[in-house]
Amino acid sequence: MKTLIIGAGRMGRRHIQVVRDLGLKLSGICDLNPEALNLAKAEYSLSDELLFADVQSMFKEISPDCVIVATTAPTHCDYACLAAMAGAGYVFCEKPMAVSLEECDRMIDLCARKGAKLAVNHQMRFMEQYREPKRIVESEEFGGLSSITVIAGNFGLAMNGTHYFEMFRFLCEEPPVEVAAWFSPGKVPNPRGPQFEDRAGSVRLASKSGKRFYMEVNADQGHGVQVLYAGPYGQLTVDELAGNMRLIVRDAEYRDLPSTRYGMPAREQHFKIEPADVIGPSRAVLQALLNGDNFPTGEDGRLAVSVLVGAYVSHEEGHRPVRINEETLPHKRVFPWA
Ligand SMILES: NC(=O)c1ccc[n+]([C@@H]2O[C@H](COP(=O)([O-])OP(=O)(O)OC[C@H]3O[C@@H](n4cnc5c(N)ncnc54)[C@H](O)[C@@H]3O)[C@@H](O)[C@H]2O)c1
Repeated sequence: MKTLIIGAGRMGRRHIQVVRDLGLKLSGICDLNPEALNLAKAEYSLSDELLFADVQSMFKEISPDCVIVATTAPTHCDYACLAAMAGAGYVFCEKPMAVSLEECDRMIDLCARKGAKLAVNHQMRFMEQYREPKRIVESEEFGGLSSITVIAGNFGLAMNGTHYFEMFRFLCEEPPVEVAAWFSPGKVPNPRGPQFEDRAGSVRLASKSGKRFYMEVNADQGHGVQVLYAGPYGQLTVDELAGNMRLIVRDAEYRDLPSTRYGMPAREQHFKIEPADVIGPSRAVLQALLNGDNFPTGEDGRLAVSVLVGAYVSHEEGHRPVRINEETLPHKRVFPWA
């Protein structure tokens, strides 16, 4: 399977490993920045004929089966569309999917018209740190999911917030329908360059059936990622960076008491999972895309973008709850995400 990677930054280089792990043929990698290409060449002992300084010449020379778009967000749409136009059957795009809803739609439409399968690299459904909580909250002793609270250092609403919007959808198995947001004042310099801007802040989501999601990732918070899952009979706390999980569930004999009896005798359990890496779950997404399994689709990527767009609208309009639907969200507005 002839595979091209566009973008040889940190993520593009990880995708070289993904391509190798899956036994695909890396036929070319391109980047505007020669330093990024040199790093890729040195790290993975790539031969010079695989390296391209621009996308057009790479596509002129190679007709790909699979294209991985790992540039920063402003070019995701154009390159995903270019890949579909070049006849690639599989387009694997980094998140955030694009910088506007209009671009997300263009990618979905064009890939569908050209018969290309499109995946967005939100790996949550393949990660033990979300699969295990999903299994636990759905157990009888936990009683189902009621809310998720994420308290973390300033990890960026576009950079990582979008992953957590997808995580909430995955855990609930239904999309969020409403968002409210409070952004931190001021802007923090973006590590990917001054042309990019991400926001920190607080975000609240609700799903159709009334499940809640709260995220506290403000600019004055500088460490850690803790996630707390709450349900009728229990709480699960996950320290995602350390891989520690703590589960408390009411003893079975007290389950039927009302929720106001929140301090009943409980069983407490501690366990550990491997802290997440990026390569393994990215490999799982690409593998699922190639196999036609349950992979994060363009629609899933678009949903995460629409939640983020809704968060901007809410913040700018007095923090009002914003419905995540087409009537309320600006379709063409372009955001400065990386
Ligand atoms: N899925 C994940 O877990 C995950 C993790 C990290 C980053 N990402 C995403 O991956 C993307 C890349 O992130 P990164 O950390 O590698 O950033 P980076 O800045 O390290 O790399 C981006 C690379 O793209 C190149 N580039 C930009 N525009 C280009 C163009 N028009 N043509 C060719 N090359 C171009 C840049 O020169 C740079 O080398 C971002 O959208 C980011 O949000 C996803």
